[in-house]
Amino acid sequence: MIKRSNRATIPSYWYFDEKVFQKELKYIFNNSWHLIGPESLIPNVGDTYPIEICNQPIIISRVRENMINAFYNVCQHRGTILLNKKKCYKHFQCRYHGWIYDLNGDLLKARGFESSEMRNDDFKLKSIKVKIWNKLIFINFADDTTYFERVFDGIDKRIGNVDFSNYHYFERVSYPIKCNWKVYLDNYLEGFHIPLVHKKLSKVLDYRSYETELYDDFSLQWCSIKDEENPYLNTSISKPIAYYFTVFPNILLNIAPGRLQTNIVEPKSSKTCTVHFDYFFSTIDKEIIKEDMNFSDTIQREDIEICEAVQKGIESNGYNVGQISEKNEAGLHHFQSILKHYLN
Ligand code: FES
Ligand SMILES: [Fe+2]
Repeated sequence: MIKRSNRATIPSYWYFDEKVFQKELKYIFNNSWHLIGPESLIPNVGDTYPIEICNQPIIISRVRENMINAFYNVCQHRGTILLNKKKCYKHFQCRYHGWIYDLNGDLLKARGFESSEMRNDDFKLKSIKVKIWNKLIFINFADDTTYFERVFDGIDKRIGNVDFSNYHYFERVSYPIKCNWKVYLDNYLEGFHIPLVHKKLSKVLDYRSYETELYDDFSLQWCSIKDEENPYLNTSISKPIAYYFTVFPNILLNIAPGRLQTNIVEPKSSKTCTVHFDYFFSTIDKEIIKEDMNFSDTIQREDIEICEAVQKGIESNGYNVGQISEKNEAGLHHFQSILKHYLN
């Protein structure tokens, strides 16, 4: 008898069904940590940055040199969006009826209301949890902090407290993609496709050394970089390694000598996502930076092409459920197991 392992993929409709997508927003993205970007987005005290994360309007602001706050960007009077652009404030005023809030989210003045009518303390902006790791800003709509510590302590432990403190933020490149966010994650989570889809990358990575490690809430893929083909910074490291971390659900950390590249896979709809690449380098040499970014762009375009083809195939009547390789797709299996846990 042929022994079959239970390694079925999640069913195809999970990649395009609107109800599944809404369930993911509610049960996964509303409860998980989101990477916003580098602290340098708000370098000065008072700098305030409005942004939307999974349809939720939020404000990030630097209250003190070492303190960053996050709030829902929603006025507590009648609920309008408070701020539209990045600016430095001492306090800010709602453009609708003029309520004024400070950087702690406290309501300073409720224009048009007597103090006997209401208590300002009852109308603070709704706050959101913030954490910083290696000068990167993360937020969580739920209350959890233990998950964050477990994951990032785990990553620090695994790569020996890599110090990114002298890395500088270069820029963000965003790619809108016509595929469900999980198609992109599935693809990222295996190196199985590298020899076929990424000819140039295949020359850089020593595919025979490719390893996947699974942890409770994150996974790591790593691979040796062939010295002679290394497009990254020439450091004194004798055996350079590329690390690819996936923090559930949608944060990717790509670490190579002299550079950190973070990816945020932002779900846009049941059939689309946008992937944001933030680049950090230890060098300021424009040539090295350009080479690295061009190289990443080539790989990304190859991934986009294949992900959009996968989405089309999955949406067709020609596919229901696939099979995950134990040896080559362990990261993908790990990701889908966590996903199922959240959704069931
Ligand atoms: S909605 Fe903001 S002051 Fe009225
Ligand atoms: Fe790829």
